[in-house]
Amino acid sequence: MNIAKTIKETRQIVQQWKNENLTIGFVPTMGYLHEGHASLIRRAAEENDRVVVSVFVNPIQFGPSEDLDKYPRDIEMDKRICEANGAHLIFVPGVDELYPFGFSTYVDVEGPSKGLCGGSRPGHFRGVCTVVAKLFHIVQPDSAFFGMKDAQQLAVIRRMTEDLCFPVRIVGCPIVRESDGLALSSRNNYLNDVERKAALCLSQGLDEGLRLIENGERNTHVIKSAVRKKIEQEPLARVDYVEAVDPNTIQGIDYIKESILCAVAVFIGNTRLIDNFIWEEA
Ligand code: PAJ
Repeated sequence: MNIAKTIKETRQIVQQWKNENLTIGFVPTMGYLHEGHASLIRRAAEENDRVVVSVFVNPIQFGPSEDLDKYPRDIEMDKRICEANGAHLIFVPGVDELYPFGFSTYVDVEGPSKGLCGGSRPGHFRGVCTVVAKLFHIVQPDSAFFGMKDAQQLAVIRRMTEDLCFPVRIVGCPIVRESDGLALSSRNNYLNDVERKAALCLSQGLDEGLRLIENGERNTHVIKSAVRKKIEQEPLARVDYVEAVDPNTIQGIDYIKESILCAVAVFIGNTRLIDNFIWEEA
């Protein structure tokens, strides 16, 4: 497995593969990899000849009072997980490599960036899209793999890819969970034992919503308040949002017709966690 710190090295390795007509799958990450990331790497390896993983804690997608400085990092563990799951190249740029002095160009996707995490974290998706657009130019993948854990991010990246004519197939991959239902996240690392138990309220709240839909409820206001009520039974939880939206446009929906993305963001202590489900009419 190759490890590249510069854009130049990455381009050289990718170019060699392209000359050999090999297909390239790409998994962008912020590192501190877990089984959720590993599932994306394996999927990329199943569907492509070569797999590139980027590990970059992207400063411009963090707000001024967010966790950029304490975001967990362990590049040796990341290398082991990449290698074990079939990656061929890890791109680990420094901040100056992607944002040299004078950097001034940003990608701002409207539409699906509005609301949910876009509302609570102003500028977040502008940071995500800017780095992903740069990484797409550097890696030039045939397909790129994103988790449905970040459902709004996936919708925003799909929109950007189409709007900016990137010749990249965007693949959404299922949420990987702990056996008790907690969605895997690098941020779960912040939780102490009591908070770890409390964090179950996200998946339990969403289960409640899904149960209502499966029993025929289609009014999203009823569903959202049931989800919120279940989460708020947990004293350590502070709800940021509970929303029911179209999975592609991220526009609010009052009554479910074909499909629904039910998404939550909840603070457990100081840690902000997100989770969701997508339900589609069979
Ligand atoms: P990061 O949070 O490291 O996540 C990288 C990818 O792993 C994302 O596509 C995310 O949805 C996916 N992922 C995380 N937890 C998952 C889980 N439990 N199951 C399935 N997939 C999961 O998302 C980012 O980084 C950044 O915003 C990035 C796209 C790299 C841009 O900086």
